[in-house]
Amino acid sequence: MNVVIAGGSGFLGSALARALAAEGHEVVILTRHAVSRAPSLPHVSMVSWTPDGNSGPWARVIDGATAVINLAGESIAARRWSSAQKQKLRDSRLLATRSLNGAILRASRKPVFISGSAVGYYGDRGDETLTESSAPGTDFLANLAKDWEAVAGEISHMTRVALVRTGIVLDREGGALPKMLPPFRMFAGGPLGAGTQYMPWIHKDDWVRLVAWMITAEGARGPVNATSPSPVTNAEFSKALGRAMKRPSLLPAPAFALRIALGEMADALLLSGQRALPVRATDLGFSYRYSNIDEALASILA
Ligand SMILES: NC(=O)c1ccc[n+]([C@@H]2O[C@H](COP(=O)([O-])OP(=O)(O)OC[C@H]3O[C@@H](n4cnc5c(N)ncnc54)[C@H](OP(=O)(O)O)[C@@H]3O)[C@@H](O)[C@H]2O)c1
Repeated sequence: MNVVIAGGSGFLGSALARALAAEGHEVVILTRHAVSRAPSLPHVSMVSWTPDGNSGPWARVIDGATAVINLAGESIAARRWSSAQKQKLRDSRLLATRSLNGAILRASRKPVFISGSAVGYYGDRGDETLTESSAPGTDFLANLAKDWEAVAGEISHMTRVALVRTGIVLDREGGALPKMLPPFRMFAGGPLGAGTQYMPWIHKDDWVRLVAWMITAEGARGPVNATSPSPVTNAEFSKALGRAMKRPSLLPAPAFALRIALGEMADALLLSGQRALPVRATDLGFSYRYSNIDEALASILA
């Protein structure tokens, strides 16, 4: 297969690129940076693009590709959400998606389009069980995910479009987990706020396997929750992390302190939750390697 990954230099995209290349597939990563170096991995090349809503010379790599995976966007947790930063989070995703839409529309042989989204689509939903057909939330991240999905969906009459509603991807090197480890290492770990919020976690290996599988899974169209079948509350997660690290999980991080430190992001990213279930993926026959949080954390922290 020939797979184009927009934003493929990031945490998830680089893992996906490595996995596809290891199986002998050809991967092209679209990056905003100048590309001067030879590929660091066999079967992986980098092409510069400008994700400004328009197409460009880079679009040649789209024509005839098996799939385009869209992971480009300003990092959600990199800095506090000023209104300018919120605009950047939105523009970076919506414009990148529009650029890809244009390139796919012009391609004579159209690739499958697998476009990013997030469980933030559902907003903060307590212990409600959420599937792909649940209604969206109304907060900033929910509106962002909804609008991001809507732009990707604009070309669903031309090709198969699947929307990856990614949960909290667990890995030792990237994503949320490395930020959670220091307090536990110092015997000061514990739940965030009340700890009742659900964490729709997924092991990075399963995220990579799931998205790679979606490329050829004809039934995978529309939203697909990329979460493990067993979401846990933050309190359960903290206990599991304590067990995996052989440390106590007794000291809660008070909600007010998180809000002072992080502002609106504290509620949106740490204190709210989604009990999301991967109904589409499991109905279509995808099988998870990690559906138990203890096994997932043990493999990551081993
Ligand atoms: N990691 C998670 O647990 C998680 C959970 C839910 C949803 N997601 C979503 O999944 C996607 C991929 O996640 P990730 O963790 O791999 O993100 P990441 O490490 O931040 O990578 C995203 C990539 O997007 C590109 N990018 C950054 N800023 C951009 C901008 N202003 N305009 C256009 N492109 C930009 C960058 O590539 P270049 O610098 O090479 O252009 C970067 O490598 C993101 O949209 C993220 O919101 C991730």
